Amino acid sequence: MSFIPYGKQCIEDDDIQAVVEVLKSDYLTTGPKVAEFEKALCEYTGAKYCVAVANGTAALHLASLALLEKDDKVLTTPNSFVATSNSILYAGAKPIFVDIKEDGNIDLDLCEKYLKNDKSIKAIYGVHFSGNPLNQKKLKELKEKYKIVILEDCAHSLGAVFDGIKAASCANSDYSILSFHPVKHMTTGEGGAITTNDENIYKKLLSLRAHGIVRDEKNIQDKCMAYDRNNNLNPWYYEMQELGFNYRITDFQCALGLSQIKKLDSFIKRRKEIAKRYDDAFRDNEHIKPLYLFDGNSSYHLYVIRVDFEKLKITKAELFKKMREKNIGLQLHYIPINKQPFYKTLGFGSENTPIMDKYYKEAFSLPMYPCMKDDEQRFVVDSVADILKLAKKQI
Ligand SMILES: Cc1ncc(COP(=O)(O)O)c(C=O)c1O
Repeated sequence: MSFIPYGKQCIEDDDIQAVVEVLKSDYLTTGPKVAEFEKALCEYTGAKYCVAVANGTAALHLASLALLEKDDKVLTTPNSFVATSNSILYAGAKPIFVDIKEDGNIDLDLCEKYLKNDKSIKAIYGVHFSGNPLNQKKLKELKEKYKIVILEDCAHSLGAVFDGIKAASCANSDYSILSFHPVKHMTTGEGGAITTNDENIYKKLLSLRAHGIVRDEKNIQDKCMAYDRNNNLNPWYYEMQELGFNYRITDFQCALGLSQIKKLDSFIKRRKEIAKRYDDAFRDNEHIKPLYLFDGNSSYHLYVIRVDFEKLKITKAELFKKMREKNIGLQLHYIPINKQPFYKTLGFGSENTPIMDKYYKEAFSLPMYPCMKDDEQRFVVDSVADILKLAKKQI
């Protein structure tokens, strides 16, 4: 059997065709496909505005610059890819790492304790970890009660729903970010987006995406530079009003995104089928516990299981190696961000996060992607179950 990774893209002929058409067209970047893709993402998520960018990290960076100021305090999770909290640092703000709950998500009740004790906390950066949505009612309550900014990192959760509220709709948040990296629900190669319902944030993001440059006449600031002596606008004129970036996404990436978004619901349906089959396969297994039991609201970017290695003769690293020998890629989501060497140099690492610490010892992700075949999944189930069975300690 060929290598089974923990995640990968599903690209078909029509996706390739969509990209080829753009490659043959006049626009490779900033053409019509970008706006079409943004519109499709608004329609899918229900958010009013969308800005597509080069990747999810760029989306986080711009969102953080749009709403945070230097030294702002931000509650966030240690259980995410480093990009989530890095973006807080990019804005000169200060992450505060809050412990997670047993389902892998940031503990919003604990967040409330922090908010009660420190009125200067500006924001919560929450991740719907693995596709499992955060409690939207609680997010709404915290936002209204403590007047905080909320960013939803939806890199794992496109297509997830909580009480009818779709991920990235920003129903109870200021903005959401998405990633279209190949392992995510749909891909544009690299790619990302920010969604929001706030027009001012939207305009700010558009400017930051493209160097802080303004071209439209009604927003020009320097009339002297802009007009000639006959008061005609100089045809070449553009002006830079703030320090922005080149975080544009290309037209051919957006063409791929438009082709993929048509299949998104079927991709998510397949992910849910795979999750259910894993749950069924491990129901009576004494060593393997799913992170949470099958939940149709999750869009299952990841299928995470927990194993108490203390009770076994094998370590987690040994299991990873043995599975790799069978051509199966496991992955760990995530090493606690606050314990990363760089974060330790900033003084992080000794937070009281017992649930995250235990999670780190026990959890790992099994392969899960829409094009995964049933026999590949069976092979993964049998392999992991057999290895752990042999590792049972004799009492
Ligand atoms: C939760 C989370 N946020 C942000 C990102 C960053 O996205 P990208 O890889 O598109 O920059 C990732 C990527 O893995 C992620 O998992």
